[in-house]
Amino acid sequence: MTIRIAFAGTGYINKVHAQAAQNLGLELAAVVNHRPDSMMEFGKRFGITRQYESVESMLKDGGVDALVVSTPNYLHAPQTVAALNAGLHVMVEKPMAMNALEAEKMNEASEKSGALLMVAHCWRFDPDVLWLKEQSSKLGRIIRTKGYGVHTHWGPSGWFTQKRFAGGGAMADMGIHALDTARFLLGDPQPVSVYARIGTHYKDFDVDDTGVIIVEWDNGATSYIESGWWQPHSDGLEAATQLYGKEGFGQLFPTKVEIRKTKEERIDVIESGFEFPRKEHCPQSLYDDQLKYFVECVEKKQKPTPGGMDGLVNMKVVDAAYESSRTGKVITIK
Ligand SMILES: NC(=O)c1ccc[n+]([C@@H]2O[C@H](COP(=O)([O-])OP(=O)(O)OC[C@H]3O[C@@H](n4cnc5c(N)ncnc54)[C@H](O)[C@@H]3O)[C@@H](O)[C@H]2O)c1
Repeated sequence: MTIRIAFAGTGYINKVHAQAAQNLGLELAAVVNHRPDSMMEFGKRFGITRQYESVESMLKDGGVDALVVSTPNYLHAPQTVAALNAGLHVMVEKPMAMNALEAEKMNEASEKSGALLMVAHCWRFDPDVLWLKEQSSKLGRIIRTKGYGVHTHWGPSGWFTQKRFAGGGAMADMGIHALDTARFLLGDPQPVSVYARIGTHYKDFDVDDTGVIIVEWDNGATSYIESGWWQPHSDGLEAATQLYGKEGFGQLFPTKVEIRKTKEERIDVIESGFEFPRKEHCPQSLYDDQLKYFVECVEKKQKPTPGGMDGLVNMKVVDAAYESSRTGKVITIK
């Protein structure tokens, strides 16, 4: 049976997800947006005639199996919960919610209805990231990671920069990519504590545009993560992560590992062979692979990873980072 998929939001990233759905041969069943002009354009482009002003009105009509939620962050939880309660499987964009409390409610709705919840932490589907994860077993125990999610001389505008719509700024938008990538490469440990310094120094927003956070994980590793919009510099493309192991080092973009157990030994460099620099940092194929995985999980009735619980872990770290920055204290995560 072909999955009948719907889209909440008709902006930048849902065009990419709808393209992915077309590429995968899914049935693009319906679209939701409160703005008819934008919805009509989206409907025309992707051949979707069922168009609704709200998720609730779409649910009343039925005939949809799954929903992709790519609206401003404050709508992620209510739209996802409404869809899950109606038995629709949901893939929701990152950050999955405004905060961990909302994320918990989304997980509860998924548990109760049995409908699947996936969070679109897209870097888990990136070939370079997957290669580094595979190679990471050669690095010995990983002691620390260093990563960033940063836009240089650029940043988003509109709802992204307003706390009541976005929840947080560059940390919730870009830092979370680096956070989830570090956690994925470390084998999905649980966070123990967070220390952060986050601020707004480049623009006049009520959300943050720069930050650093240090996360201590329950496997003993520590992650250092930078977030930013409008920064004068970043160590490379929009997002990357390095791994420091007892017996070697690994990095993304250019993606390679270097194995050397002692100073006397020759460094054994293993190159990934992936193109660098890439033509596009976030190519369509990344989102095709992500949606393909979501659909496979729906077909096999298998809980996805990154699922709602992974999204919740990230939200807990982001919440703790803001609290740490506000109080100047290390925040313990339970
Ligand atoms: N993983 C990635 O690579 C990636 C990239 C970009 C954005 N995102 C995430 O995706 C989400 C959307 O970002 P975007 O860049 O597409 O934003 P956007 O502003 O381009 O799109 C948001 C869309 O939501 C619509 N919308 C607003 N209120 C609505 C409502 N009540 N009902 C239905 N639709 C409504 C807007 O009209 C717009 O079409 C964000 O959470 C963002 O963090 C992820």
